[in-house]
Amino acid sequence: MRPDRFHGEDGGASVPSYNDTIRLISGTAHPVLAQAVARELGIPLCDAHVGRFPDGEIDIKINDDVRGTDCFVLQPLSPPVNENWVELLLLLDCLKRASAGRVTAVMPYYGYARKDRKDEGRVPISAKVVANTITRCGADRVLTIDMHAAQIQGFYDIPVDHLYAKPVLLKAVQAMKIADPVVVTPDVGGIKMARAYAKALAADLAIVDKRRVSGSEIAVEHLIGEVEGRNVLIVDDMISTGGSIAGAATIVRAHGAKTIVLAVTHAVLCGPAVERLDACPADTILATDTIPRRTKAPRQLQTVSVAPLLARAIRNLHDSRSLSILFETLED
Ligand code: R5P
Repeated sequence: MRPDRFHGEDGGASVPSYNDTIRLISGTAHPVLAQAVARELGIPLCDAHVGRFPDGEIDIKINDDVRGTDCFVLQPLSPPVNENWVELLLLLDCLKRASAGRVTAVMPYYGYARKDRKDEGRVPISAKVVANTITRCGADRVLTIDMHAAQIQGFYDIPVDHLYAKPVLLKAVQAMKIADPVVVTPDVGGIKMARAYAKALAADLAIVDKRRVSGSEIAVEHLIGEVEGRNVLIVDDMISTGGSIAGAATIVRAHGAKTIVLAVTHAVLCGPAVERLDACPADTILATDTIPRRTKAPRQLQTVSVAPLLARAIRNLHDSRSLSILFETLED
């Protein structure tokens, strides 16, 4: 889908405008990020009412005409995840019934992604249920960032574009000019991500051997690798209760790390996360804005925005341009 109208000082032949062809719709999960993406795209946010009826049910009305347009609904599945999920479903349904040309669910943070398989008897595969409902309610495609488990893409029979926050975070890390860094992953599951950072920074790699005791408790068993007297960069896809990353920071300091920077995509920051991070020996925490700040932030937090990345992806999708160009840039 290409813009079908052009507005320019020359009477309209050269400057493409997305005003008439793209609709960016925000739920209530993250209006600040939605506004930032809209600014990057140079369009206003779609006029939509997303409220609540007196009994708590969700009340939605799209006030702009969306017929035939390319609609992007920006709604991370962040806490309160169940509310945000149902809002997204109702927005998708609403747009489909209003004859939108194409509807893309933009989920900068994909909630329930840690429940992607039956790891014990009598448990749901919640990430699959998210996929089923999003497809069923009318999404034509999905755009997301750093899904906890990339194979969740296979739960969909519609296209899923999976972006990486690495270039955004890496730029911020490089600006810090960390001398001779060691990249550390807080668990073995994060080795692929840590290796990508280590390669980009020409850094060494170390691994924390972690065991999850419960949803909010972890036990740090060993550190594999050398951090004595070194500047450490710990990378992870998310901070939830903060146990994993605070545990990793604590063990690298105990092994003689000089400075400690944490870089994460999704700062969920639930339960005791802020207290744990405040108390941990990290000097700086870099996190993106895929999730809005709802709680008091940890003292070391610096936010880097994914708005330009999302806007670029939306622009490419709308113009039917390849996103793999974007991935190649991200993976370099
Ligand atoms: C684990 O596989 C993830 O990459 C994160 O390390 C984990 O989910 C973070 O959770 P928490 O902050 O509660 O330790």
